[in-house]
Amino acid sequence: MTDRSRADWWRDAVTYQIYPRSFADGNGDGMGDLAGVIDRIPYLRDLGVDAVWLSPFYPSALADGGYDVADYRDVDPRIGTLEQFDEMLALLREAGIRVIVDIVPNHSSDQHEWFQEALAAGRGSAARDRYIFREGRGADGELPPNDWPSHFGPTCWTRVADGQWYLHLFAPEQPDFNWDHPEVRADFVRTLRFWGDRGVAGFRVDVAHALVKDLSEPYARLAGYSVEHLPLDGSHPLFDRDEVHDVYAEWRTVFNEYDPPLVAVAESWAPTERRPRYARADGLGQTFNFDLLVAPWKAKAFRTVIEHNLELAAASESSSTWVLSNHDVVRHATRYGLGDEVDLVAWLMSDGTEPVVDAARGLQRARAATMLMLALPGASYLYQGEELGLPEVADLPREALQDPIWLRSGGTEKGRDGCRVPLPWASDEPGFGFGAPVGHLPQPEWFGGFAVDRQLDDPDSTLALYRRLLALRRDLVAGDELTWLRSPAGALRFARAGGWESITNFSNRRCALPAGRVLTSSGPLDGDRLPPDTTAWIIAD
Ligand code: NOJ
Repeated sequence: MTDRSRADWWRDAVTYQIYPRSFADGNGDGMGDLAGVIDRIPYLRDLGVDAVWLSPFYPSALADGGYDVADYRDVDPRIGTLEQFDEMLALLREAGIRVIVDIVPNHSSDQHEWFQEALAAGRGSAARDRYIFREGRGADGELPPNDWPSHFGPTCWTRVADGQWYLHLFAPEQPDFNWDHPEVRADFVRTLRFWGDRGVAGFRVDVAHALVKDLSEPYARLAGYSVEHLPLDGSHPLFDRDEVHDVYAEWRTVFNEYDPPLVAVAESWAPTERRPRYARADGLGQTFNFDLLVAPWKAKAFRTVIEHNLELAAASESSSTWVLSNHDVVRHATRYGLGDEVDLVAWLMSDGTEPVVDAARGLQRARAATMLMLALPGASYLYQGEELGLPEVADLPREALQDPIWLRSGGTEKGRDGCRVPLPWASDEPGFGFGAPVGHLPQPEWFGGFAVDRQLDDPDSTLALYRRLLALRRDLVAGDELTWLRSPAGALRFARAGGWESITNFSNRRCALPAGRVLTSSGPLDGDRLPPDTTAWIIAD
């Protein structure tokens, strides 16, 4: 039985990501909020998660779903108040659930008081130095300082009224901080303590590999740089520089002021080989591994990812993390329903040709994949709604889309709204129990079929499966050991300490079930055969 009070609880925790605006609406204004989270604490307790991670709930103009933070030490009034946050924390603690919060240190909102001050103060001012302002090129500085693109569009520079340009790796409403500035560093330390003192267990660190940049002149020298293929020596001007770890070493001293120490997980898209640096015990302690999420549905691909990531985790003396869905990607129940030949990126393009999704196969594989993931050593991160087997909402009305990817690509990329649609709680209530009216991202009619109330009493439902798995996992999972076992062709089979094993059939033919007692399976079994796209957990008799 896992001791959930251990200081290193995070090593094998199951953390549930709440995207607050779309989770549950407690006050009926159409937007999810902290009152909604409080209402659903019994649901989270019964689901059996160890922690929740709250995506940003801070005051924000919502240019990027809240990842444009206007005030790091407050709650958006549409989402709640600090008092409600404290109440939520206390009630979750009573339910045995820890809370980690998202921290967004690379950039603020353009509505942040420092950025507003910088705009007003003008070129050369101390206020501008907290961000990254530069002169443009061309006779009148009318060209951006260089050709760097942003993640959401063609350029990462925006010009202000007096002619200077500022850097934003994401949307123009998300100006990047200057992390060489001592006030920026000190202010984030203050923010860490602000939430640490309130009782959060830790932080999910947004774009953790981007903070420290080398913008020494001439920055135009790096024209045409690539964001996809970062160098292995930390020499990229914007990402994964060695100096970023000095920031996290300072954060670690703050984390260690608490008992147990605060935890942190890096969202870092650093090259795989350099990822362990973010997970070091003298740094953030843990980093996301998105490799499973992008792996094709093939036994060999899964095994390679698992082996590699267990090695990486050992190299940093951390534990691995596993993720199949989050607020930035197509939900895995849909991903696995796309033909193997379908390119996920192409699917996101709104060129009018939607690929065909085999929903039944998608859900079956998603359940099998989740079950495999939950059998692995390390920590798992779940995304709200995956426990309902929710598919992506691919056909949102174009006028409802809000993602800056959609807006800044001029409608050529659909973006991430399809996984952010408010959850269905009750099939027969207005707004499917999310709250009415649903003020953003309309729910499709078919959402009712996935509602919590439809699944609660159905032992074959995806919700029932998740609840069973999390309860079993709590009793079964111990240690970091994983032993690969001889598998039937196209299957993956491994044993864990305590005499139990997991087997997943990736092939399109039934395979033999290993001997022992089946604890549970992701779908119906066929006598002593394991059907395709199915996982079973088995314990020695
Ligand atoms: C990563 C977050 O997960 C994503 O939603 C956001 O758009 C970017 N960082 C920018 O903050």
